[in-house]
Amino acid sequence: MEVIIHQTYAEMSRAAAEAVADVLNAKPNAVIGMATGSTPLGVYQELVRMHKGGGLDFSQVTTFNLDEYVGLPTTHEQSYHRFMHENFFRQVNIPPQNVHIPSGTTSNYRAFCAWYEQRIEECGGIDVQILGIGSDGHIAFNEPASSLSSRTRLKTLAKQTIDDNARFFSSRDEVPVYAITMGVGTIMEARKILLLANGAKKAEAVAAAVEGPVTSMITASALQMHPDATVYVDEPAASKLKMREYYDWIQKKKPDAPRV
Ligand code: F6R
Repeated sequence: MEVIIHQTYAEMSRAAAEAVADVLNAKPNAVIGMATGSTPLGVYQELVRMHKGGGLDFSQVTTFNLDEYVGLPTTHEQSYHRFMHENFFRQVNIPPQNVHIPSGTTSNYRAFCAWYEQRIEECGGIDVQILGIGSDGHIAFNEPASSLSSRTRLKTLAKQTIDDNARFFSSRDEVPVYAITMGVGTIMEARKILLLANGAKKAEAVAAAVEGPVTSMITASALQMHPDATVYVDEPAASKLKMREYYDWIQKKKPDAPRV
C-alpha cells in the first residue's frame, strides 16, 4: 500500500480527487466505486469543482455505491441514495441510468445482491474505488470477522458502527441495524483503490489496516494484498503509524521526483 500523508483534510481530498480525475482522463467511460459518510465529502466537492470549473466530464461514467441501509426509503434524509444525490450526482453530469446504489428496500435481498454483483461485472468491473474506513477498521459495511472473500450481501452492523453513525440520526435507536454492502472480495477486484481517512478517531484503525496483520478483524487490512491501493490520510489520522517517516521519505524520493 502506498501511504500519502497530507497536512489537512482539504489537501488530502484534493489529492484523492486528482487521482480519480486521472483515471477519468485516461478512460472517460470509467466505472467508479463510491463511498458515503463524512470522509469522502471533500473529494466529491473537489470533483464537482473540477467538473464545473475545469470541464471534467462524467457523461460516460458509471458508478456503483458500496452500501445502503436496509429499511430507509431512498428519500430518507440519511439514506445513502439521498446522500449521493445531494452531495454529488445532482451536481455533475452522470446519466442517472449509469448510477447504481444498493437497494435498502428490495423484497428479495439475495436476488438483489446477486444482480448487483452481475451488474458490476457486465459494466467491466470497477476502475477506481473510493473507500472510507470505520473506527473498527471496516471498509464498506464489512464489519470485524467478515470474510475477506465476501461478496455483496445483507450485513448486521456492529454496535460500534451504530454508535459512530448515531451522530447523523436524531437518536441511536433510529440507526438501521442492517445494511446491504459490497463484500471485501468485491472491493478487492477494483483495479485501483483509494482509502481515505481523516481525524484522530481513525488513527488506530489506519495503523491496524496499514501496519497490522491481514485479518478479518480489520477488514481494511485486506488492502495490503491489493496491487494498487493508496491510503490518503491527514496528520491526525496518520498519528499512530509507526513507519510514517518512511512514508514521507518515499514520497520525497519518488524515482520521477526532480533530483536536487
Ligand atoms: C460508507 C462506508 C463506510 C464509511 C465508514 C466511515 O459508504 O462504506 O465504510 O466509509 O463507516 O464513515 P465516515 O466517513 O462517516 O467516518
